[in-house]
Formats: sequence, C-alpha cells, structure tokens
Amino acid sequence: MTRVVITGAGGMLGCQLVATAPVDVEVVAVDIAEGDLSTPEGVAAAVETHRPDIVVHTAAWTDVDGCERDPARAWRVNALATRLVAGACRRLGARLVYISTDYVFDGGLGRPYAEADAPCPVNVYGETKLAGELAAASVDDHLIMRTQWLFGPGRSNFVEAVLRKALRGEPLIVVADQWGCPTYTVHLAPMVWRGALAGWRGVLHAAGRGIATWHDVAAAALEAAEVACKLMPCSLDEWPSSARRPRYAPLALNRWQELSGSVGPTWRQGVGEYAKMMAGVLEQQLGRSPVR
Ligand SMILES: NC(=O)c1ccc[n+]([C@@H]2O[C@H](COP(=O)([O-])OP(=O)(O)OC[C@H]3O[C@@H](n4cnc5c(N)ncnc54)[C@H](OP(=O)(O)O)[C@@H]3O)[C@@H](O)[C@H]2O)c1
Repeated sequence: MTRVVITGAGGMLGCQLVATAPVDVEVVAVDIAEGDLSTPEGVAAAVETHRPDIVVHTAAWTDVDGCERDPARAWRVNALATRLVAGACRRLGARLVYISTDYVFDGGLGRPYAEADAPCPVNVYGETKLAGELAAASVDDHLIMRTQWLFGPGRSNFVEAVLRKALRGEPLIVVADQWGCPTYTVHLAPMVWRGALAGWRGVLHAAGRGIATWHDVAAAALEAAEVACKLMPCSLDEWPSSARRPRYAPLALNRWQELSGSVGPTWRQGVGEYAKMMAGVLEQQLGRSPVR
C-alpha cells in the first residue's frame, strides 16, 4: 500500500485530502502538533519517522498580509520548512508533491499563466512560496501543483465571510478588478490525489475552471444561497492591505486537461455547491432566518 504523509492536514486543503484519500492509500495526517516543519526535529518527527512513499506538503503560512508584516516567519514556514521537507524526501527516496500558488506571478502578463511562464512575485508570501518551489524541485521525483483562491469547509474563507455578513444584513464592498480562478477544495482534493498518484512531474496548474473577480464570486455565492444583500464594487487599489496582489493571474489549465484527459468543475459550480451548504450552517449558527 502506498503510504502518503499529508502535511498541514488540519488546514483547508489538508483536511479535504485526508477526507478523500483513495482506499488503497495509507494516509498519515500531520500538522503542527506532530512537529514544527521549520525545524529539523519537527520534520524528523512528522515526516521522516513514517517513511512515506509520497509527501503531499500543504503546510504553509497562508496569511498574505501577515507574511508582509512578519517576513522572517514567512520565510521560516514557507521556504525553510519546504527545504527541510524536501531534504527528508531526498533521504527517503520519496516523491514530493508541493502545493503552491498563483502568487508566484505578478499579474501583469495580460493572459492566464501557463506553467512555463516566468514567476515574478510581488509580495513576501509569493516570494517565500517561490522559494518553496525551488526547494521542492531539488527532489528528483517532484510535482509542484499551483492552485488559486481556495474556499471550502474547515477554515474561514472568502465565500463564508460573504455569507456571514450578508446573513447579518450588512452591506458588502468587494474588489471587482482582480481576476483569478476561485477553487473549491472539495473539487481540488481529487485533482491533487490524481496528480500525486499518477506520477506526473514538474509544475502543474490545478484550479477551478473559468475566470472571476472577487465581486463575481460574492454575487454567485449570494445568488446560490438565495440571500439578499447590498453588494458594491471597489478597486484593488482602494482595498486596505499590507501586501501588493497580482491583478490578473488566472492559472491556465491546459496541462491539467492534457494529462488528465478531463476538464475539472467550474469555479461557479464550486461556489454554488459550497454557498448552498454554508448558508444553512450559518443560519443555524446565527440563530436567525435569512434576509431573503
Ligand atoms: N488558501 C488559498 O487561497 C491558497 C491559494 C493558493 C495556494 N494555496 C496553498 O495551498 C496550501 C494549502 O492552503 P490552505 O489554505 O489549506 O492552508 P491553511 O488552511 O492555512 O493550512 C495550513 C496548515 O499548515 C499548518 N502549519 C503552519 N505552519 C506550520 C509549521 N511550521 N509546521 C507544520 N504545520 C504548519 C497550519 O497550522 P496552524 O493553523 O496551526 O498554523 C495549517 O493547519 C498552502 O501551501 C498554500 O500556500 C492556498
């Protein structure tokens, strides 16, 4: 049986990977409690001791503005930890699947990014994730899967925040001039499993199909959940944040389609499914009827 260590198993993507593991895979789910991956001891305890065939490394510090304010922590968690995990994979002869991000790009290309396009991050999070990619590439058998704009169960996320505010009857102001591929973790997890087990190598983009702005995502979530709310557009330049963000960085999914022979679900399907489910959960949590 193939033994797979999943790092960041308590995170938004990690918990979906654990929940959707194929039956013929033995999963070892590890998070910070099992070992801080930015230390050699943590990697020995959380990864090496299990002697995995494959490591799916999702653990990261994903707070983009937080990374800008505390670059030392970002470099430790996103770059150093990946270097140490890659070292463990080299010693074990294990395959490394590293989850990366569209934030390695600057968003200035004017078309969706292919795997071969040159990275050029515009913030600390992107720089540290790119350093993680370079570390992952030091493992002979590696796959770097870049994804984008995640939402799904288990952690706070944009779609949940939109619905929570709307159900409280609060108006929403949402960025309408930043474009990407919103990705439902429930749809992404099987793509990651496919990539991990198929043995594909190099860089591979995997995300929701289609291109959207955050404003499009909010509108689709409200429509699917049938929640009424005042939704106003704003510009990325008006949005208060510490980190610069790529304005147009959708991920081109051609390689995924060639390798897998299939097109994945659209971002709109993902937002629809998740928003319908979350609206019910939040209505119960807030103990009130929705504003419809
Ligand atoms: N979220 C997105 O929109 C997005 C978009 C593109 C790519 N990605 C990439 O996709 C991957 C998964 O993202 P996600 O949103 O699922 O992440 P997440 O929910 O923030 O989960 C990351 C997990 O890593 C753990 N972790 C942090 N520092 C650690 C350390 N030093 N040692 C061990 N574990 C540590 C976290 O534990 P604590 O919670 O206790 O800190 C958390 O459980 C990441 O690599 C991210 O860069 C995410």
